[in-house]
Amino acid sequence: PVSDALVFFGATGDLAYKQIFPALHGLVRDEGLDVPIIGVAKAGWSLDQLTARARDSLSSHGGLDIKSFSKLARLLRYVDSDYNDPSTYVRLRQELGEAKRPLHYLAIPPSLFGTVAEGLSKLGGTGARLVVEKPFGHDRESAHQLDRILNRFFPEENIFRIDHYLGKEPVQNILYTRFSNAMFEPIWNRVYINSIQITMAEGFGIEDRGKFYDETGAIRDVFQNHMLQVLASLTMDPPTGEDCDAIRDQKAALLKAVRPLNDAHIVRGQYSGYQSAPGVKSGSAIETFVAAKLFIDSWRWADVPIYIRAGKALPLTAMEIMVDFKRPPRESFAEVVAPASGHLRIRIGPDVAIALGLRVKRPGERMEGQDLELILTEQESTSMPPYQRLLGDAMHGVGDLFGRQDIVDAQWRIVEAVLNLEAPPIAYAQGSWGPDETNQLIGTDGPWHNPKPALPCP
Ligand code: BG6
Repeated sequence: PVSDALVFFGATGDLAYKQIFPALHGLVRDEGLDVPIIGVAKAGWSLDQLTARARDSLSSHGGLDIKSFSKLARLLRYVDSDYNDPSTYVRLRQELGEAKRPLHYLAIPPSLFGTVAEGLSKLGGTGARLVVEKPFGHDRESAHQLDRILNRFFPEENIFRIDHYLGKEPVQNILYTRFSNAMFEPIWNRVYINSIQITMAEGFGIEDRGKFYDETGAIRDVFQNHMLQVLASLTMDPPTGEDCDAIRDQKAALLKAVRPLNDAHIVRGQYSGYQSAPGVKSGSAIETFVAAKLFIDSWRWADVPIYIRAGKALPLTAMEIMVDFKRPPRESFAEVVAPASGHLRIRIGPDVAIALGLRVKRPGERMEGQDLELILTEQESTSMPPYQRLLGDAMHGVGDLFGRQDIVDAQWRIVEAVLNLEAPPIAYAQGSWGPDETNQLIGTDGPWHNPKPALPCP
């Protein structure tokens, strides 16, 4: 059954402003969302102030549709109260009116999850759903603790862990394209694939998130979640069955086969100037860049090196996957130009593309080749914003685009040994591709494929 109300904690915060209001507006506009929407926060605000904030958020995102907004404004309620105060939940119960199966979205720090989940459990009724935001814990142990707290009040099937990368159209398209074309599966293995690279480059620094970031770092912020989710979509076995665990079961199996990282397979970097950002401790050993070499210990992927890079203050913002294919088993034209020949390039953002790289003959007398790329699909940007899709799915109880306890655990297991390394990160210049040591990491499997800037809009 569809949730009959939507409650979001942290209503006056940054995530609500950047993502939740646009998602709610989209759900009202595109899917006729018509249930009470109740914001909760402790900011001394009124409902009018929250409504004004919602309007401001939508105008600043350029998507304000007056008719949908006035409907959203009619659905909006607000409880201004402390999460620790039992009366908050009494007021929330009143605002919920007839609703019996609300969806509760916790856009608040994880340290408050326990208090709020307990308060919510006293509202009565069954079938309430809970949406939580990453980070799911700070390491493997604290993630287990978080699970224990949430599971005390909510059954696992009613908990939805958001990793917004799973709501991205091009990330879903990885699975769709792989499993809707019979041609990929036969070559998607160690026999045909030489290596894989995944790069998430951000052309900006930590902006005003110094305090959060300095307790987090690139491994916890994006590698443990977004990057490993993308890796799982790219390398998992085909799903069997149709329930919403079919895909997640295969992802869990894949992530459990990824060999845990150690310090020999990782380069951590920190951009120069990071330590003078507000909220950052001087002498901070937090990484703003990480590059890692991974292996998946399965029959399909044994010995195929997988390189993942993610960093801030790099030359541009773009995310791209490169799957490099092996050379043919025998050279027929006496030219060995690279260890790989041909590739599949999947561009996740800011523009979207799937492109097949092939080696073809250069016109002329000699049997000499050149690398060409056939662009299979190309779009300026993605369609539905991830949060709109994910919130809509959670309202309907559809869980396949969400994390799961065992998946989150497998992700922490991979990074566990590199979370608290003693060696400080290596400094790199802003606007560079990170420390030089990343070239040693990739060695003869390189060079790194640096994503190009987005094509200018026509
Ligand atoms: C967030 C991280 O989860 O993802 C940010 O906290 C990062 O540091 C962001 O910038 C990237 O998301 P997107 O959708 O802009 O690629």
